[in-house]
Amino acid sequence: MTQNTLKIIDSRTAKEYEISIEDGTIKAMDLRKIKVSGDDFGLMTYDPAFMNTASCKSRITFIDGDKGILEYRGYPIDQLAEKSTYLEVAYLLLHGELPTESQLMDWTTNITYHTFINENIKKVMDGFHYNAHPMGVFEATLGALSTFYPDAKEIFNEELRWKQIYRLIAKVPTIAGFAYRHRVGMQYSYPDNDLSYEGNFLNMMFKTTELKYQPNPVLERALSVLFILHADHEQNCSTNAMRSIGSAHTDPFSAIGGAAAALYGPLHGGANEMVLRMLSEIGSIDKIPEYIKRVKTGEFRLMGFGHRVYKNYDPRARIIKQIAYEVFEVTGKDPLLDIALELERIALEDEYFVKRKLYPNVDFYSGIIYRAMKFPVDMFPVLFAIARTSGWLAQWAEMLDDSDQKIARPRQIYLGHRTRSYQPMAQRDGKGDTAKA
Ligand code: CMC
Repeated sequence: MTQNTLKIIDSRTAKEYEISIEDGTIKAMDLRKIKVSGDDFGLMTYDPAFMNTASCKSRITFIDGDKGILEYRGYPIDQLAEKSTYLEVAYLLLHGELPTESQLMDWTTNITYHTFINENIKKVMDGFHYNAHPMGVFEATLGALSTFYPDAKEIFNEELRWKQIYRLIAKVPTIAGFAYRHRVGMQYSYPDNDLSYEGNFLNMMFKTTELKYQPNPVLERALSVLFILHADHEQNCSTNAMRSIGSAHTDPFSAIGGAAAALYGPLHGGANEMVLRMLSEIGSIDKIPEYIKRVKTGEFRLMGFGHRVYKNYDPRARIIKQIAYEVFEVTGKDPLLDIALELERIALEDEYFVKRKLYPNVDFYSGIIYRAMKFPVDMFPVLFAIARTSGWLAQWAEMLDDSDQKIARPRQIYLGHRTRSYQPMAQRDGKGDTAKA
């Protein structure tokens, strides 16, 4: 008998099965041999929302949610946030190792080379209504961009795959900046390739009449840290969307458009926007107890709290809370910070949150910093998407090179009607009980 196995006795048939355990998992396909009869399909697992199912093997990001640990390629997030830059971390995620000086220089040059977007893309963006949400514009423009790069379909050509990776990491800040400028009715600010990745993004957002935009170094650094913290988070909703779309061998521009759509939701990357709206709605510290009471009765959720994986303080939230003070030195303190701090204090002492292990997540403080840096609230999910692009691409490339992977296609448990005859209109009673006929 092998050591790492699971013995199952099917009480329906009294048959015994032995299933291998590898890396703390059993293969769902191994359950298929458990049948009550020859024509039985075989046993499946039911796991809506993937609560306990590993969809892939990965070497990119490690999370221990109980201990509050996050590592990219084995490097702790706090060390990367302190010592690295976003582009260096993007290299790490995609290549698996930190770059040497010359590798980083080549990487940065390749990305900087691709920051401009085709002038015709501007026309696509011009077509949006003046108050279009920039995240909607961002998603749609990425999808549209796929039509500009037919070579992006060649996903198994290594050179072309890297080219799309450079293009995407380079162009997402440009699209984001243009989406914002369209929203506020300002002329587009073109990339300035003399600036850093983050400095150039600030230039495309905020440049007005100055001949050369000079980003504030504290804000430029804070943005780099925020981008590092958001760069990857293993198999979250949008990364799962990226892998799932990519598994159909869709080009990466279209796949990232889909991943961005998943990120847009208020339970995922849209949460930072919702946190700011929530703090503004609360308005003052004395209103917090009443607000918490309403959360506890289930009226709504406390945005920026709770996480599927972290059952401890989100390590990213801790780092963001620290850099908030550096940013406020430059921008002045945001009055919403006091409400956030008090809300956190009350929630962390409250039985409801303690029992459910609900702690602040990455989105709880990031919005306050973004607001202090003058990003409008509806840009928050877009900022998340810029940073997550490197993680999405790393996960996508890993999926394509994984021989275990195929087109993603879950099973279902069908509980609906079985074969019934089509009812002519005159015989339908509108109550849906025609099945009895
Ligand atoms: N406020 C109040 N109660 C909550 C919250 C919250 N933010 N989050 C979870 N709960 C409760 C929930 O009602 C449930 O209680 P009960 O057991 O009595 O039914 C329990 O905690 C477990 O919740 P769940 O919905 O089963 O947990 P989940 O793992 O499916 O959801 C989550 C994770 C992030 C969607 C959820 O915590 C949430 O909605 N949080 C607010 C939105 C948010 O901040 N999202 C950002 C996540 S971090 C960044 C990212 O991933 O993009």
